[in-house]
Parts: sequence; structure tokens; C-alpha cells
Amino acid sequence: MPLPSFVRLIEVGPRDGLQNEAQPISVADKVRLVDALSAAGLGYIEVGSFVSPKWVPQMAGSAEVFAQIQRKPGVTYGALAPNLRGFEDALAAGVKEVAVFAAASEAFSQRNINCSIQDSLERFVPIMDAARQHGVSVRGYVSCVLGCPYEGDVKPEQVAWVARELYAMGCYEVSLGDTIGTGTAGATRKMFEVVSAQVPRDKLAGHFHDTYGQAMANVYASLLEGIAVFDSSIAGLGGCPYAKGASGNVATEDVLYLLNGLGIETGVDLDALIAAGRQICDVLGRPTGSRVAKARSAQ
Ligand code: HMG
Ligand code: MG
Repeated sequence: MPLPSFVRLIEVGPRDGLQNEAQPISVADKVRLVDALSAAGLGYIEVGSFVSPKWVPQMAGSAEVFAQIQRKPGVTYGALAPNLRGFEDALAAGVKEVAVFAAASEAFSQRNINCSIQDSLERFVPIMDAARQHGVSVRGYVSCVLGCPYEGDVKPEQVAWVARELYAMGCYEVSLGDTIGTGTAGATRKMFEVVSAQVPRDKLAGHFHDTYGQAMANVYASLLEGIAVFDSSIAGLGGCPYAKGASGNVATEDVLYLLNGLGIETGVDLDALIAAGRQICDVLGRPTGSRVAKARSAQ
């Protein structure tokens, strides 16, 4: 399969990255991050979550963040919404695109959203209806596609089932998440091969965490499978509060460096991205998780 000529990067740092931070991060710092990311040329930024603040306290200020960002024309500003209440809050905050999230493993579904996979899918149906009514598009996530912290191996057929359900109910794209970062390149290719029998490849995205240092290899393996949309996180921020030990998402700077090297267009400027990463790392008082940003700062 030829490599794609254009890749769409979905920046999940402000959500998947920051949701895992224990220290409070001000609304102003979140807004500055989102605006720096749009200025770098990213076309999709996941800004926050409309979830229970008891479960994910860091995302409690998401409505304020949405109220204060400078919306750049052509940029999609998305948010997670696990239930109708979250969807309504997102709508009230002016969100035009939401994401629902299911898991490929039962145990993870219980820990992450406190219900079975089937129940979660049923819970999304009213969200899909309301979204259609309000002209809001919905992206779907499947977590634990290459391994579960509680159950271990996850079969690609199970991933394909959940992905197909999300696609069939109206998600325009389904992002397949290696939440705990245990997947390797061969397993990634196999997983996309099996899932793409149920959902077209151009409706699938890859979402890799770098816990075992495999994320970049898995991005490349996905490109070879014809996948042209990737979720990534500025400075490699992130993890998931319900996946113990899950480290950051693959760093956006590193994915962009790979894509630039392959001559794949993204519309994103590497220097501006590195500057955005540096800014949020200063706020967090922590070194960047991006190898490219580290190498550049050492020069
Ligand atoms: P629940 O506790 O099972 O059930 O929550 P509930 O509906 O009875 O709600 C409990 C309390 O939450 C109630 O408040 C509700 O009002 C409130 P109380 O009466 O106790 O004061 N509540 C809400 N508050 C604000 N916004 C809402 C909302 N809904 C209920 N939308 C629920 C169920 C799904 C809400 C909960 O389990 C939850 O919020 N979970 C959050 C999970 C989450 O955000 N996880 C991280 C994101 S997923 C991820 O990172 C993976 C991904 O990146 C892909 C990958 O890496 O693989 C996407
Ligand atoms: Mg994630």
C-alpha cells in the first residue's frame, strides 16, 4: 500500500495529556496552549472533556477553556463526552465536535466509565441522536486495542466489533488507542488488517501511547497499513488516569518529524510546535517527552 501523501494530526495534548496531571493547571495556561497549537497549524485540537469532575478533576474547567480560546477558522476544537449530560454541557460551551469513548476490554470499560462495553455503546445512542439534531459531528475512540492493564491480550476481532459498532451508529471516524502502549509493529498491522474488514481504512485513526517505547514504530506500521490520521500529544504529555503506568501519548513533534522526513504533508510547522511544547513544559516544570524537542534544545 502506498504511503499517504497527507496525514491529519489530531492534537490531544490539552485533553489526553493534561487530564493526567495532578497539579492544577490554570484555565489561562490551557488557553495559551490551545492557541499556540492552532497557531502552529494543527487542524484539530482536543481541548477538554465534559466528564465527571470526581473522576477527572483536571478537566473540570473545560467550558471556561472553550469560552476563552481564539477560534481559528478551519480548526476543529473537540471535546470528550461520555454521556448525554456531557454532550449537553459541551453543546452549551459551543463545541461543534465531540468524541465518545468505548473500550475493547470489559475490565477497562468498567474502570474507565463504570459500565460494560455494551452499556457504553447503548449510552452513546442518545448522544448520536442529539448530535445529529444539532449538527455536531462525533468521533469514536476504542481504548486498549493492543492490550489491557487488567485483562492482558485483546483480540483484534474484539476491537473490530467495537469499532464497527461505533462506526455503524454514526461516528465519522474511529480512533484505535493503544492506551497502555504495549503494542508492537506486527500486532499493530494485524489489528488494522482485521479492523479494516469492518470499518474502511480511511475512517480509522491510530492513537499510540509510548509506555514501552513503541509508539513511533507503531505509527510507521500504521502508515504502511494505509492509515492517515494520528492522535498525538504535544511534548508527549499524557496517559490515562484509569490505566496505571500508561505514559504519554506519542509526541506530536516526533510524529511530525517522521512525516516531514517521509515527505508527507500535514500543514504543521515544526518550530512553532516545539515552541508550544516548551511553553507548556515550563508551566508543568518538567522536561519535554519529545525526543525531537530535546534534540533541538540541545543544539
Ligand atoms: P458514574 O459515576 O458511573 O455515574 O459516571 P453517574 O452517571 O451516576 O454519575 C456520578 C456523578 O457524576 C453524579 O454526580 C453525576 O451528576 C456526575 P453526583 O450526583 O455524585 O454529585 N456526572 C457528571 N458530571 C459532569 N459531567 C458529566 C457527568 N456525568 C455524570 N458528563 C461517567 C459515569 C462516564 C460520567 C464517569 O465514569 C466519568 O466521567 N468517567 C471519566 C472517564 C474519563 O474521562 N477517562 C479518561 C478519558 S478516556 C482516555 O483517556 C482514553 C483515550 O485517550 C483513548 C486511549 O488512550 O485509548 C480516549
Ligand atoms: Mg489516550
